[in-house]
Amino acid sequence: MEKKPAEFAILKIGEKEIRLPLVIGTQGERGIDISSLRRDTGLVTIDPGLGNTAACYSQISYVDGEKGILRYRGIPIEVLVKKVKFIDVAYLLVHGELPGADERKKFSEMLNLNSMMHEDMRHFFDHFPQGSHPMHILSTMINAMAAFYPNVDIKSMADNIDTSCARLISIIRTMAAFAYKKSIGEPVVYPRHDLSYCANFLNMMFDSPVRPYHIHPEAVRLLNVLFILHAEHEQNCSTTAVRAIGSAQVNLYATISAGISALSGPLHGGANQAVIEMLRMIHEDGDVDKFIRMARDKNSPFRLMGFGHRVYKTYDPRAEIVRNECDAYLTLINHKDPLLDTARRVEEAARKDSYFVERNLYPNVDFYTGILYRALGIPENMFTVMFALARLPGWVAHWKEMIGDSTKIIRPRQIYIGRNEIFEHEIENRNNPQII
Ligand code: ACO
Repeated sequence: MEKKPAEFAILKIGEKEIRLPLVIGTQGERGIDISSLRRDTGLVTIDPGLGNTAACYSQISYVDGEKGILRYRGIPIEVLVKKVKFIDVAYLLVHGELPGADERKKFSEMLNLNSMMHEDMRHFFDHFPQGSHPMHILSTMINAMAAFYPNVDIKSMADNIDTSCARLISIIRTMAAFAYKKSIGEPVVYPRHDLSYCANFLNMMFDSPVRPYHIHPEAVRLLNVLFILHAEHEQNCSTTAVRAIGSAQVNLYATISAGISALSGPLHGGANQAVIEMLRMIHEDGDVDKFIRMARDKNSPFRLMGFGHRVYKTYDPRAEIVRNECDAYLTLINHKDPLLDTARRVEEAARKDSYFVERNLYPNVDFYTGILYRALGIPENMFTVMFALARLPGWVAHWKEMIGDSTKIIRPRQIYIGRNEIFEHEIENRNNPQII
């Protein structure tokens, strides 16, 4: 980040003029540093939704929403999905560089070492009510980790970031698969040291004592791609939750649990499940245009799920990769999914429609992802869990960066628009039954 104190924005309030320094990011993004505004003027800024606010400096990922660019630590995601595995990306995000051979070996060993959860935690799964959403189970279980794994103070976790990170990345996968097995009433499958990260997950999900699971290398490759695409996306809602909660120096497990909760919302990670539900509804109805009209109608609560993005005002680069993978993978496994045809029809109709064109509403990463998860055999209520597994390294990277910057506790201001002071005698009058 280049600071150019020579450049200022001038803010005039009445007769008073103050100079606010401009900051410039490495990709030329310009911002006005208002950190002294309240001290110098007594004023605050207001920006609901924080769409105009850079909450921090960060080196982890770069998004250009106008050009459709996404890079992790400088490397375009198009390159990452071609060249490396999800585990390499996890290491890249947390440590800043892709791992060398020795680092990768050590990281893999740590993942294996930490893949089992405390056996007592396994019994927790028996006590969630039947039909509990796996995202609720996951956030609870991750939060509970602080009770089972000691030394959760921020310094210990930061000093042992390799272990903290490997434990989380590895255990979350085991928990996710256990939650699924519990939901279908099958015995859990333990992780295996001889399998890679994604192969291990598929095996834990689908192997059974009566029906051994054959791990297909293409399924493993595809899962790596999907996980890489979801691994990080700068200051989205869940990452902001992680930074906000983490800034209170809460332990890393509770912090990640908050991120998982934020991700579960239908306007964020929950959208991948909502998309499939919507596509099924459209497919059954058959009238695509009717749903486009509903999405345009301000009196209708219906939105086209998987469309639109706070940052991307062009095609989400992740959505493009997922769309291509849909064609390639479904052809490879010789599988026809009617919802893919519906999705294509919806996209075609929306991209011709003036409402969507004028607002730059394109498919986001969630639009086609569910089709691939379905093809992999992942049930719909696990879609957002898949997102959480993938996003974990991004959250950990932001937590690490934030505590390294010794950032202050996140505590925004507000503009109060409530009542004026209510005096004591007014309360007495209100409580007097004669007056009432
Ligand atoms: N369908 C219909 N209209 C939409 C949609 C949509 N999916 N998305 C945005 N719009 C409209 C808004 O109504 C608004 O119209 P207006 O200018 O007439 O008031 C305009 O487009 C701008 O939209 P905003 O709501 O201001 O966009 P914002 O940045 O706040 O929201 C969001 C982004 C939440 C993603 C939104 O586009 C949306 O709800 N999409 C559907 C849910 C979804 O797919 N979420 C996943 C996001 S990606 C992720 O989290 C990984």
